[in-house]
Order: sequence, then structure tokens, then C-alpha cells
Amino acid sequence: MKESINLDTLPQHIAVIMDGNGRWAEQKGAMRVFGHRNAIKAVREIAEGCAELGVKYLTLYAFSTENWSRPADEVNALMELLVNTIADEIPTLHKNNTRLAAIGDIDSLPTKCAQKLRDAITETATNTGLTLCLALSYSGRWELKEAMKAIADKVAQGAVKTEEISLELISAHLHTKDMPDPELLIRTSGEMRISNFLLWQMAYTELFFTEVLWPDFRKEHLYEAIVDFQKRERRFGKTSAQLKS
Ligand code: IPE
Ligand code: IPE
Ligand code: MG
Repeated sequence: MKESINLDTLPQHIAVIMDGNGRWAEQKGAMRVFGHRNAIKAVREIAEGCAELGVKYLTLYAFSTENWSRPADEVNALMELLVNTIADEIPTLHKNNTRLAAIGDIDSLPTKCAQKLRDAITETATNTGLTLCLALSYSGRWELKEAMKAIADKVAQGAVKTEEISLELISAHLHTKDMPDPELLIRTSGEMRISNFLLWQMAYTELFFTEVLWPDFRKEHLYEAIVDFQKRERRFGKTSAQLKS
């Protein structure tokens, strides 16, 4: 599969909804947390796969605003896992020249979690390869609400005029302001929905759904999604004939 990838038309930004950890564990007669623990290998694989290919940005949906309503045990276990994993992965991030980033309501995470995350972001800031962006306590509507508040404040203060509100200005007030929009979204576990992920940014993203449960996701699956993406014609509202001329 890897040989079928055209490196000249690689997506610059891949977004992933890592889904199916709970079902993966349940199929094995284990607790849901077991699935979350086994998700880490898949994260490593896809981050390494993207870094090796030369993908510039990888955004992983790790915890949504809505996930706070899961049972407290599961939420706590996920936060604990996050704290431990981030610190452990720093050497690997350096080895792969990967820079860590985050989007979402980071202040809403447990203090220790937010601190470890900020430390890892600072420590890897000068790496120049892949940007690995974790979406944590993130949702698209929350992000848009925050952007609207920030813009409204600027208008109230006279720093921005209403007629100056443009698509670019809105994009510049999102957490993803330093990244291009994702060209490809991958969602695992057979669910075919967006679940409040990058709503603004995915206006023209190509969607790829796979039945594979996230803990089973490996580089080959990543390559398969990229090859599929490269066969598509992205028209952005134009006709096929226009694109060919
Ligand atoms: C994705 O797996 C991980 C998170 C949402 C944190 P799930 O925990 O949603 O697994 P399923 O969908 O219940 O199988
Ligand atoms: C989406 O998965 C969020 C993450 C992967 C972090 P969910 O499992 O929470 O989504 P729904 O509830 O099935 O839509
Ligand atoms: Mg799920």
C-alpha cells in the first residue's frame, strides 16, 4: 500500500476521530479502560506513519466536550492515561522530529494533565517535522462559540468593524488558526458521523470511514485511507470539466 501513495499529492493535514476503544475491549470481555490503554499503540503507529511520509499536521480527537458526561470512572481513567502517556512519549516525539500541539478547552482538564501537556508542547516546540495536535475537551461548536465571543469583544471595543468580519478573520479566531484545514478525515469503528469535531474546518474535507476499531488501527490502514483519498476528485463546487481544463 505504501508504494501506491503519491508523495506529491499527500494531504498536508489529516484529522482522525479515534473511535471504538470501548467496543474493542468489550469484544475481549474486558473493561472499557482496557480499550483506551490499547489505543496508545495505534496513536504511536499513525503519528509515526504520518511523520515518515511527510504529512505536516495530524489532529487526533482524543476527548470531546460531550465525553465529560461519561461515567466518572472512565473520565478519570482517561485523564490519568493522558498524563502518563504524554510524559512517556516525549523521547519518541523528539526521535520523530514531531511537535506536540493541542486544541480545546485545556484549562478544563485536571491541573496535572494541563501542566504535563503544556510542558510537552514547550519541550517539542522546535521540532520541525509533523505537528501532532491533540483535540482535548474539544468540540467544534464550543470552538465557534469562543471565536464569536472574541470577535464580539473586539467589535465592542472598536478594534474590528462589523464589515471586517470575513471568513479569514473567523478562521484566525479558531484554535486551529496556525494549521491548514484538514484535507482528509478518518473515522474508525464504522460510525459515520462527525460528533462535533472540526465543524468549520471540515467544510471541504474528504471523509474516510473504516470498520477497524481504533486499537487495531495500524500504518497499513493509514496508507489505505491516503490511497483512497488520492483517487478522489475534489471539486470545491466546480464541474469536473472545469478542473480538467
Ligand atoms: C473512543 O472510543 C475514545 C474516546 C471517545 C475517548 P470510545 O470510548 O468512544 O469507544 P466506543 O465507541 O464506546 O466503542
Ligand atoms: C467522538 O467519539 C469523540 C472522540 C473520539 C474523542 P464518541 O464515541 O464520543 O462519539 P459518539 O458519541 O459515538 O458520536
Ligand atoms: Mg465512541
